This record gives sequence, C-alpha cells and structure tokens, in this order.
Amino acid sequence: MGSILQRLIYTSAATTPTGSLINLATILAQAQRNNDRDGLTGVLASHRNRYIQVLEGPAPALDRLLRLLESDPRHRDMILLSREPITMRQFGRWAMASAVITPRQGAALDRLVDHDDLTPERVIRIMLDALDAVPAD
Ligand SMILES: Cc1cc2nc3c(=O)[nH]c(=O)nc-3n(C[C@H](O)[C@H](O)[C@H](O)COP(=O)(O)O)c2cc1C
Repeated sequence: MGSILQRLIYTSAATTPTGSLINLATILAQAQRNNDRDGLTGVLASHRNRYIQVLEGPAPALDRLLRLLESDPRHRDMILLSREPITMRQFGRWAMASAVITPRQGAALDRLVDHDDLTPERVIRIMLDALDAVPAD
C-alpha cells in the first residue's frame, strides 16, 4: 500500500524570463531527475511570465517539494490553487511534462482567471490539450 496520492496546482511569478530555453531546460532537468526518484509526476507551463504547475504524488513528497519551491529564487508569489486527494494520475506518463501554451489556450486561461473560475479540472484540461493528450478517467 503506497501513501495517499494528492494533486496540487499552483501559479507563481517568474523572476527570470520564462521564454528563455536555458532557464526552462534547467528547471525541467532538475524536476525530471528528482520527481522520477520521488514518485512525482506533473506538468509545467508558463503564461504571461507566470508559471503554472500541476504536481501529483504521495503527500510527503509533495510537502518536501513545496518547501524547496517556496525558497527557489527563480519565482515568487506562489499561489496555491488547489491541493486534494486523487484516485488516479492525469500526468502519469511524465516526471515533469513541459506544456507550450498556444494563444488559444492562453486566452482560455485568461478567461478563467478573469472570471475567478480557475478550477483544477479546467486547468488540467488546458494542460492536457497543450500536451495533445486525453484525460484519463
Ligand atoms: C517553476 C519551478 C518548478 C519546479 N518544479 C520542480 C519539480 O517539479 N521537481 C523538483 O524536484 N524541483 C522543481 N523545481 C526546482 C526546485 O525548486 C529546487 O530547486 C530543486 O528541487 C532542487 O533540486 P536539487 O537538490 O537536485 O538541486 C522547480 C523550480 C521552479 C522555479
């Protein structure tokens, strides 16, 4: 019996340009190496110089990563959008996927923010759409 799976979603303000491939590649390489070790999966995207990340995995591993993220100078102003138990992973194929947000998906995210309607399900749908993947359910 593994520990209980949880999923968390947060956004943060990037302190270095998110369009820089070297910045992104460095974060992704770290994330993939550590997440693979820690049983975490998820997706990272950026939009309007903010990061949005979905993380799935055992609660203790999520707690440890949150502490590291909170003191990482590459971003600030973390806002936790949701943290809840899940029965299955949506991003189980990726230690950390990198989603490129198209203008259409960006507009959809903006609409959700404008209407204060950024639910986990909607965020996940946009991320899966950006990865060209279908929801697992
Ligand atoms: C936006 C963002 C997302 C990140 N995502 C992860 C992640 O999913 N997993 C991870 O281990 N580190 C992630 N990091 C890096 C951590 O904050 C931290 O630097 C790293 O885990 C330290 O790893 P190390 O001890 O191997 O150097 C992320 C950093 C940023 C800025």
